[in-house]
Amino acid sequence: MKKRTFLGAAVLAAGALASGAALAQGQPFKIGLILPMTGPQASTGRQIEAAARLYVAQNGDAVAGRKVELVVRDDTSLPDMTKRIAQELVVNDHVDVLAGFGITPAALSTAPIATQSKTPEVVMAAATSTIVDASPYIVRTSFTLPQAAVPLADWAVKNGIKSVVTLVSDYGPGIDGEKAFVERFKANGGKVVESLRVPLRNPDFSPFLQKAQDGHPDALFVFVPSGTGAAVMKQFVQRGMAKAGIRLIGTGDITDDDQLNDMGDGALGVITAHHYSAEHPSALNKQFVAAFEKTNKGMRPNFMAVGGYDGMHLIYDALKKTAGKGGGDALLAAMKGDAFESPRGPISIDPQTRDIVQNIYLRKVERVNGQLYNVEFETFKDVKDPAKSK
Ligand code: DHB
Repeated sequence: MKKRTFLGAAVLAAGALASGAALAQGQPFKIGLILPMTGPQASTGRQIEAAARLYVAQNGDAVAGRKVELVVRDDTSLPDMTKRIAQELVVNDHVDVLAGFGITPAALSTAPIATQSKTPEVVMAAATSTIVDASPYIVRTSFTLPQAAVPLADWAVKNGIKSVVTLVSDYGPGIDGEKAFVERFKANGGKVVESLRVPLRNPDFSPFLQKAQDGHPDALFVFVPSGTGAAVMKQFVQRGMAKAGIRLIGTGDITDDDQLNDMGDGALGVITAHHYSAEHPSALNKQFVAAFEKTNKGMRPNFMAVGGYDGMHLIYDALKKTAGKGGGDALLAAMKGDAFESPRGPISIDPQTRDIVQNIYLRKVERVNGQLYNVEFETFKDVKDPAKSK
């Protein structure tokens, strides 16, 4: 208890110091990037770190004359660790911005530190709707599950899918995705046979897929976090669920670009909705993918990478707008309403909610030049998080 009070006071003091513009002059601008570099979400950490380093390599390590420093820390996918690292970064390293956050519990655990120390918390990966409500210093460059699930539910009923079983990871984003999809699908006249939730840690998908199969739905809607999709896809194919007439649909987390190319022909034809595909046909994206693959031994960027890349862009923009001075409140004000072209398409930060506004694309897995990609075929423009506009 004593320790917590001490840390709380230290966090407050660090915040007061950091917001003094005098301190800024001559000091490097530090971005504390907290990522899961090991553990179940390691692919998220690897993608975001690579994207952040690429952004710095392309845009230089100085903004408005101020040197920018990335301080990368591994939270091993454990939210208690995220919080402890965030405290250390604020109190000892005097970081100007906290960024990263591979999973929802990590982003939430850090929110009180962001608030107390007035440090912007740029969420580059985690996607539960309510995260931005946890602190007025949180800004998000990833996505929310309802953004993708609602357009997918509309597509499903228009394309002959009359019944579904839903299968989601049993925590924030999964519950958001399930709720948004089910509500919209039912409102459109669809039937939900069963809603299944699978544990986040060490999931065994087979009993859940068996249950889904027994329900004989037209489609199975799936959300699992990045890095887990291949395991679900493999079992879906092995069980012959597609042959039994069940279509696989989901948010784009299931056909993650990090794993898609290794999923094999069983993934062909899978329809998903999401904000980013490595196949997005813009000049900026082609440059981004080529540079990312070149600097990372051929690794293809996924939707986590783009969240990291755009998060860095947002931080650079904000630092520029403050003429290199920084300061939590000034940076926050500069981030609100910022808008630019991302490799995913046009994006902006809603000044009221601090959440991302972006296009959502319907995509189909196809073979392009011998490789599997999510090929976009329909665009929903400037989508806000539907869970917040109610
Ligand atoms: C979250 C994590 C993921 O890997 C993902 O694909 C979507 C959401 C999360 O924890 O918020």
